[in-house]
Amino acid sequence: MSSNSTQAAPGTKYRDLIARFPDSRDYLIPILQEIQEQEGYLSEAGIYEVADYLDLPESKIFGVATFYNQFKLTKPGKYKIQICRGTACHVKGSFDLLETLQRELDIKPGETTTDGLFSLETVACLGACSIAPVVTVNGEFYGRLDKKKVVAILEDLRKQELSNE
Ligand code: FES
Repeated sequence: MSSNSTQAAPGTKYRDLIARFPDSRDYLIPILQEIQEQEGYLSEAGIYEVADYLDLPESKIFGVATFYNQFKLTKPGKYKIQICRGTACHVKGSFDLLETLQRELDIKPGETTTDGLFSLETVACLGACSIAPVVTVNGEFYGRLDKKKVVAILEDLRKQELSNE
């Protein structure tokens, strides 16, 4: 018996997940949503598998994925930072916080740092206007922030990472 007999064939990581849907193009969006739900984003490998399954050109699927804001094509960081750009947070200085985060992390919204630690997203009102301006890290809320506090949050997370190594 071959020692490789238990290994999945290349390019089939999403096979079981995708095969739960009929191989009809009508299911393209639900399939992409399911992959993103599982992986946190749409990887190239996933898109190629969907293209194969639905017999669609990859370019068409990339087109759909980039058209809809809900789909992410970049792997999220270990720490997913969301900064609220709703009105209350804007009035309280969220633009300055966004600039600080972009500078500190050297990324723009929608991107992930090269070390894979942080990703940055802007979102509409997070429903916590009373503590504006608000940032969340992996869903945890930080309110009444200023530039110094945002930098301190990043420093804490980096220290935490170092102590985990
Ligand atoms: S506007 Fe930011 S939490 Fe509402």
